[in-house]
This record gives sequence, C-alpha cells and structure tokens, in this order.
Amino acid sequence: MEPNILILGAPGAGKGTQSSNIVEEFGVEHVTTGDALRENKHMETEYGTPASFMDEGELVPDPVVNEIVEAALSQADGYVLDGYPRNLDQAEFLSEITDLDVVLYLDVDEDELVGRLTGRRVCSECGATFHVDFNPPEEEGVCDECGGELYQRDDDTEETARERIRVYEENTAPVVEFYDERGELARIDGEQSLEGVWEDVKAAIESSA
Ligand code: AP5
Ligand code: MG
Ligand code: ZN
Repeated sequence: MEPNILILGAPGAGKGTQSSNIVEEFGVEHVTTGDALRENKHMETEYGTPASFMDEGELVPDPVVNEIVEAALSQADGYVLDGYPRNLDQAEFLSEITDLDVVLYLDVDEDELVGRLTGRRVCSECGATFHVDFNPPEEEGVCDECGGELYQRDDDTEETARERIRVYEENTAPVVEFYDERGELARIDGEQSLEGVWEDVKAAIESSA
C-alpha cells in the first residue's frame, strides 16, 4: 500500500513543486484539483464554467470539486492530494471518503507569495513548474524537461494572486487549524530553498510510515 498524503499551503507555497518530487520518490498519484479544473476550464456546469471563478481568484463551488476528488481518489493506489480541501466543508467531505497517512503544511509568509506567483512559468506540454528568478529554466521560455513552451497562468497576475491569498486566509487557513488541532499536521518551513523544503517533506513522509 502506497501512502495517502495531503499537502496544504497558501497559493504559491510550493505544493505543486513538492508534489512532483513526492510522485517521483514514492510512486503515488498526483491528485490536484487546480490542474483538473484548468483542463476543464470551459466546461459548462449548473454553476457556470470553472474559468468564471478561477480567473477571479474565487473558489469553484464545492459540488463540482468534490466530484472530481472522489473520482480521482477512488482510482488511486496512494496519492498526494494538492489544492483540496480548501474550506471546512470540503475537509468534512474528504474525511468521509478516505483515510490520510500524512498531512503536510508548507508554511510560507504572505509577503513571499505574490512574487512566487507572478514569476511562475509552467510548461504547456508536461506541466513542469519554473520561476523566472528562483528556479529559472536553462533557456528562457523553454521547458528543461521536455522542450515545451512555458506560459504564465491566467490567475498569476498580481491582482488575482492577491485575491487568491485573501480567499485562502478566509477559507483555507481554518482547514490548516482543523488538522493542527487533531495533532495531524507536519509543519514544514516552506521558505527554504526548493531542495531544503524537499528534504523536510521527504523526512516527514518517511517518519509517518
Ligand atoms: P491551484 O492550482 O490549486 O492554485 P493555488 O492553491 O493557488 O496554488 P498554486 O498552484 O498557485 O501554488 P503551489 O503551492 O502549487 O505553488 P508552486 O509549487 O507552483 O488552484 C487554482 C484555482 O482553482 C483556485 O484559485 C480555485 O479557483 C480553483 N480551485 C482549485 N482547487 C479548488 C478547491 N478544492 N475548491 C474550490 N476551488 C478550487 O510554486 C509557486 C512558484 O514558486 C513556482 O514558480 C515555483 O517555482 C516557486 N517555488 C516553489 N518552491 C519554492 C521555494 N522553496 N523557493 C523559491 N521559489 C519556490
Ligand atoms: Mg499548484
Ligand atoms: Zn515540459
């Protein structure tokens, strides 16, 4: 049995970056609501399209997201869940459908986050994540992994990034407290280098096995 891992953190904390390392090291599946929603941005739901919420930095309605997570987790033998739960109702739903082995929290100060988000570049082919200053690709605009073209996410403008952080503080910070109060949270200093964060993430997962 592979571990069931939850990774929490504010927008730009490094959830996606560290999830890639976790997938490679532990052979689990990356279940990420953000990527799943981006792949279906223009799908019509009874609430409107995901894009109509995401491009404003708001949360997509719970029923849409819950369905994505339930389907993905039911098919995974071990996973790292990234981007969910984002409010207490989602946390409640999650506890009904699965058991977690590790809950990681990447702790990054708010001042750090906007710069990480506005400088992020993502590969259009393989999804690898870079940063113009903190993790630049060898050749500007080109993915080191696959040679694909890098792009900037629609919600990585300064204005939308700030709104996402506000929505996080209001809705998702209580989720971090929820796991902390139950003594389940492994708090990791997310302001270290990418390698430093990875060392601590790996150790936290290994010590939970
Ligand atoms: P989602 O895609 O989940 O975005 P997010 O939570 O805002 O998080 P990010 O992906 O922006 O940040 P990350 O922590 O993955 O950071 P990364 O590793 O890329 O959600 C997008 C939208 O979808 C939401 O706003 C919402 O509308 C909707 N949605 C998704 N899930 C939902 C849900 N459950 N319910 C309702 N709506 C939902 O790193 C960021 C940058 O920093 C990169 O450039 C990276 O290279 C750099 N970096 C990483 N680590 C370091 C480091 N240690 N030092 C320096 N730079 C670093
Ligand atoms: Mg991400
Ligand atoms: Zn690529």
